[in-house]
Amino acid sequence: MTAVAESNAAAIDRARRVTAAERFDVGTRFGSVFHSADGSWMRDLEGNRVLDVTAASGALLLGNRHPAVVEAVVRSVRDHGAVFASTITPQRLELAERLCARYPAGEKAVFCKSGSEATTAAIQIARAATGRDLVLTAGYHGWFEWQRPYRNMGFDPRTRVANFGYSETALRRLLTEFGSDVAAVILTPEPAWFDLEWHHRVSRLCAEHGVLFILDEVITALRWGSRGLNGTGGVRADMVTMSKGIANGHAIAAVLGGRELMDHYDAAGIAGTYNREITPMFAALAVLDEIEDGSVHEHSERMGRALKDGMRDVLASVGIAAHVAGPDMMFDVVTASEELSWDIYAAAYTHGAWFEDSGTQMVTAAFGQAEVDHALEAFEKGARQVAARTDVEAGELPERLRSKFALDAFGGSPVDTGPAMARLAETVELIGRGTPGPGTSATPVVE
Ligand SMILES: Cc1ncc(COP(=O)(O)O)c(C=O)c1O
Repeated sequence: MTAVAESNAAAIDRARRVTAAERFDVGTRFGSVFHSADGSWMRDLEGNRVLDVTAASGALLLGNRHPAVVEAVVRSVRDHGAVFASTITPQRLELAERLCARYPAGEKAVFCKSGSEATTAAIQIARAATGRDLVLTAGYHGWFEWQRPYRNMGFDPRTRVANFGYSETALRRLLTEFGSDVAAVILTPEPAWFDLEWHHRVSRLCAEHGVLFILDEVITALRWGSRGLNGTGGVRADMVTMSKGIANGHAIAAVLGGRELMDHYDAAGIAGTYNREITPMFAALAVLDEIEDGSVHEHSERMGRALKDGMRDVLASVGIAAHVAGPDMMFDVVTASEELSWDIYAAAYTHGAWFEDSGTQMVTAAFGQAEVDHALEAFEKGARQVAARTDVEAGELPERLRSKFALDAFGGSPVDTGPAMARLAETVELIGRGTPGPGTSATPVVE
């Protein structure tokens, strides 16, 4: 393989010439270009082994090259093929049955390739089912146009999407004023910031207003317990979207919902040539077999907890103020600023561990004690190097800095600040007026 003879830096230069993108990948990731991985260990072009503490942005649940998944994928392409003229396959039927048995929201399941598509399909189904067009949202759902202003509370008249920024006050007000125009509320759970009861309350609020509630479990479906907030947490939802980890890295996403609701699929105009691809379905069925008896989650949660507690202890012992919280398999590490976190993770990378610079760390089932120890050692070395050359504060991270992280990371306003409430008032006015224009979600709320 010729690429392996190339240095990381040369490959990155080449990437700059032939492919995008400076911010998304080329310029703001750490300096390795990987060509293979095993479990949670990746190997770069220069032969360095680096531990992945991001689970490939959550795409991996069991780790790379998991034998059961490899076997299922090979069996799929060798013995069955990839796609057929028809869209219904035994694999699709079995996967739909098993996911619906796993998540209470599901009576029917449909499939697509990514989380961005699944959440878009869900709101199109909701709009088709209700004949309403307004969508209320909080959190990241992907990169399509309607999903993009996810950090900014406000309203975009072009897409008819209003972002309530995780403010219960804002959601209640928008439902009270415009409930009869709302097709659905779609929410990405942020379990490090809002507890289970908060998610139950949001679900109940939607039910009280007769509005469909879509839980975007693209990350949480297999990482908040083994069956997400809908299954493990018992949070009622009309539709659930999921993707990451389902097929251990293979591209598939699902929308689950009640039979009557899902029967608006045709009216919603949803299609997709590759939605029928059977290989990721084989992989997903293998994943479901693997996690059936609960031991994969029991182990992964234990490893995640050890890593989370260890990172909290490292920051305390180095003297860097931090807030470390969240479920064991997807926890947030918040420091005083994005720059400080980036510096620490960049230094940790030089010691062989690749952390998520935006803050959410995720383990795979391939993590054992050796991986936890390696991650913590790299993190500690990195943190100590940064603390030695930077002015850092120790102790509790002030509430103001936690809120800033929530706003920057996922558009969350856990506290009803003056600017957020002013933005809500503008938003209500704008939706009520019903005229097209740039909207209020085009700019951030400045605290
Ligand atoms: C909750 C949630 N929804 C949707 C998406 C978009 O998924 P994808 O990147 O597969 O399009 C993501 C991706 O991070 C996500 O975390």
